[in-house]
Amino acid sequence: MTSTLLTGIAELVTNDPSVGDGSPLGLFRDAALVVEGGRVVWVGPAGRAPDADRRRDLGGQAVIPGFVDSHAHLVFAGDRAAEFAARMAGTRYDGGGIATTVAATRAADDAELRELLSDRISEMRVQGTTTVEVKSGYGLTVADEVRALRLAAEVTPETTYLGAHVVPAGVDRDDYVRLVTGEMLRACAPHARWIDVFCEPASPHAFDGDEAREILTAGRDAGLGPRVHGNQLSAGPGVRLAVELGAASVDHCTHLTDADVAALADGDTVATLLPGVEFSTRSPYPDARRLIDAGVTVALATDCNPGSCYSSSMPLVVALAVREMRMTPAEALWAATAGGARALRRDDIGVIAPGHRADLTVLQAPTYLHIPYRPGVPIARALDADPPD
Ligand code: NIG
Ligand code: FE
Repeated sequence: MTSTLLTGIAELVTNDPSVGDGSPLGLFRDAALVVEGGRVVWVGPAGRAPDADRRRDLGGQAVIPGFVDSHAHLVFAGDRAAEFAARMAGTRYDGGGIATTVAATRAADDAELRELLSDRISEMRVQGTTTVEVKSGYGLTVADEVRALRLAAEVTPETTYLGAHVVPAGVDRDDYVRLVTGEMLRACAPHARWIDVFCEPASPHAFDGDEAREILTAGRDAGLGPRVHGNQLSAGPGVRLAVELGAASVDHCTHLTDADVAALADGDTVATLLPGVEFSTRSPYPDARRLIDAGVTVALATDCNPGSCYSSSMPLVVALAVREMRMTPAEALWAATAGGARALRRDDIGVIAPGHRADLTVLQAPTYLHIPYRPGVPIARALDADPPD
């Protein structure tokens, strides 16, 4: 195996508090690192760097752990630009538009969907994302959900069965819950790591607490890890259900009661905030400070989807978290990298330390502070640090 020494790193964010400046970001200035076989093997000050087979000078850029986008819906066809325009004119988001994407996705052939998915993954990499979770949920028949998960599994190990996205038009609610927990689950489970449900009693299209419990319990029994879309439109039962079932993450968390915050603080479920959704639906942002101050682990993700947020940009999400939710730049960067790794229960990503995957993002800037400081400017890019010989 060939080792590569990366030099010329003006600032290195490791997310390892035992090194560097000792802060949660484990910051080094004027740093170097060595990668070999896709893994990090050494991290430290440039002056103490060991020798390696190859050298690469990054010319004074900053390096951070690749963004971990732990919530995305990328297997779909068509778009909903007209729905966005209507929303900007005052129409409220309630998930009803999902049916439009379901129809377009069912009508697309495999090759078309594969190409759309692959383009979206590339779009993410050039913005610094190195891990992405991908959900099904725009098929809603056994065959279409399996197809979405098979395609997702071609691009990521983080695949999520979201047959319980909405009740499809014309289908009886109870019959659909039976399908999602029965035949559809059996067909999808081999292709998924996670199960998710849109738990939102405030939407006529989504699932209430009892339905969500039944669906997540069945998924867990089939070996899938629960995660939940919860408390997006109202202070519903999603958050407490997620904590009770030991879900890895509950996502959105826009409307929370004190009991929700207390449950999150006591449990080990990550609260994943998706501020691109509030931006794109013109809604109030989640109260990140309330969660962080209560000791809750917070992650940030895009929720990239054609309805509530058609953006794949983690740098945008970090900028929104800082500007609109009053997270510090350090908290936001941590949440978009190490936080996302926690939300996926992964201990090999989100941190730059020996033994971890060499999933690195390079910034055309001297410090990570430029991510929120230069919103909309494409300074972040995933680095191919360890190309094959
Ligand atoms: O996370 N809330 C439910 N699902 C997605 C939106 C899907 C869509 O509108 O197409 C979300 O916001
Ligand atoms: Fe979502």
